[in-house]
Amino acid sequence: MSEIPEPMSEKNTWWRTAVVYQIYIRSFADGNGDGIGDISGLRARLPYLADLGVDAIWINPWYPSPLHDGGYDVVDFRDINPLYGTLDDADQLVKEAHNRGIKVLVDIVPNHTSNLHQWFQEALASPPGHPTRDRYHIRDGQGKDGSEPPSNWLSVFGGSAWEPTSDGQWYLHLFDVSQPDLNWENSEVHSEFESILRFWLDRGVDGFRVDVAHGLFKAPGYPDITEDGDLSVPRQQLDHPFWDRDEVHEVYRRWRSVLNSYGDRMMVAEAWVHPDRLPLYIRDDEFHQSFNWDFLAAEWDAKEMARVVAESYERASKVGASPTWTLSNHDVMRHSTRYGLPPGTDWHRWPMEGPHDLLDAAAGLRRARAVALITLSLPGSAYLYQGEELGLPEVWDLPESVLDDPTWERSGRTVRGRDGCRVPLPWTSEGPALGFSSAEPWLPQPAAFAGLAASAQADDGDSMLTLYRRALALRRERLATHEEIEMIDLGPDVLAYSRGIEMTCVVNMGQTNLSLPDGEVLLTSAPLSGGDLPPDTAAWMSVQPSSEDSTD
Ligand code: NOJ
Ligand code: CA
Repeated sequence: MSEIPEPMSEKNTWWRTAVVYQIYIRSFADGNGDGIGDISGLRARLPYLADLGVDAIWINPWYPSPLHDGGYDVVDFRDINPLYGTLDDADQLVKEAHNRGIKVLVDIVPNHTSNLHQWFQEALASPPGHPTRDRYHIRDGQGKDGSEPPSNWLSVFGGSAWEPTSDGQWYLHLFDVSQPDLNWENSEVHSEFESILRFWLDRGVDGFRVDVAHGLFKAPGYPDITEDGDLSVPRQQLDHPFWDRDEVHEVYRRWRSVLNSYGDRMMVAEAWVHPDRLPLYIRDDEFHQSFNWDFLAAEWDAKEMARVVAESYERASKVGASPTWTLSNHDVMRHSTRYGLPPGTDWHRWPMEGPHDLLDAAAGLRRARAVALITLSLPGSAYLYQGEELGLPEVWDLPESVLDDPTWERSGRTVRGRDGCRVPLPWTSEGPALGFSSAEPWLPQPAAFAGLAASAQADDGDSMLTLYRRALALRRERLATHEEIEMIDLGPDVLAYSRGIEMTCVVNMGQTNLSLPDGEVLLTSAPLSGGDLPPDTAAWMSVQPSSEDSTD
């Protein structure tokens, strides 16, 4: 029998300071020439990721799926979508990534399955009251003949969250109609997911990104929501009937003990909850980390950024966790576009017309360069989204005919959805699909992607890719081990903090040049102007403490 490894001591574990690179596999690299990214394409690009200098990758769901929600509609949690490859390919990828010192996280989707999942098919084929129906939320409707849904809950993607079954009951789907919600009051659901975790841990993955970690449990009786406004959005309130219910924590405690029994594995929560509730998810017997939406949503404003940085650090450290920093992912507008929009623009719900006259693309790009130096110098982990290292913008003018996000149809074609941040990567400036594939890519790439291709940026000392590579190398050299931060006040338009003597980060968020403190400049996001830091620019410096501060 193999020995059970000791759980690692919390400090000095790899994930506490890891840079994790998110792979939206469908759009990363196509290895077999069908226009869709896959595992063989990803394997071929591992040298690129190693050169970039990331510590880990997180792969979005790669399981068999009809892809009604980009793979978050899972048919079989223990297999690989044939579009992406096979289980053998997955094993090979994990091995090759490990050989290059890159850890692998996979995505676990516990709130729902695909409607094509065997369990849901069995449930539909069974009569009301049958135990297979109890694995989901399948209930009688309201009204005289049950023709009204059991509650007024809305789907995140638009419309009612209840769909009638052919025999007159209703099933709950908080997301697409093809994603029935699992019933976490049912013990089979618990044991199934613990077994799925073990399945992937046994194959050698280093951990999990957990989808909708704040979902899972629903209030008994499905009470109506009585608030005004958008009923589908995770509320910033306590006792919501389906978000952030206290019962979720017991599940994660059990998952944590499964992970601990494998040694140095980790899990990170996608939990859209009130920031004050986030620490509950990262207590030392639950998640290791949680994404930090406050940081992602912060405006380009020194005071706001400083507050968010300090509060995020405080919230994580008070429960002994390490903070995380994310700017983009496959669900939100790419940040080089976001930072070019006027403050207060509602980028969650992308308007159909796009930002045409509102967008200052040059400012967005300048700020994206500067914010990269913020993200990569903060204590804790950074989660990068594929393509941000190339400075890819949001593609907001995809033709309607190619839109794939369920939000588009479920909103009655009023909200375009998330396809604009999921366009396949440009690897080369020329050639079919800009090196992504030998065939038409599943979403068209705009002409502007050619100039942003990885090959075009690789040897350009001024490119975004070079900036990321340099920053990652310096981070590894200087910031690998300690987790402290001290905020520095250099005026109202400046975000500044020190990471010990190894590094000070200064960001000019104002309108005029800023004179830098004394010290050695290690890296800047744009050239200095006569020794000063221009607006929308960040500098990494090595600043020796003044003699009064010195302790010897
Ligand atoms: C969050 C995922 O990131 C998103 O892409 C998905 O649509 C929902 N969860 C539902 O699984
Ligand atoms: Ca392919």
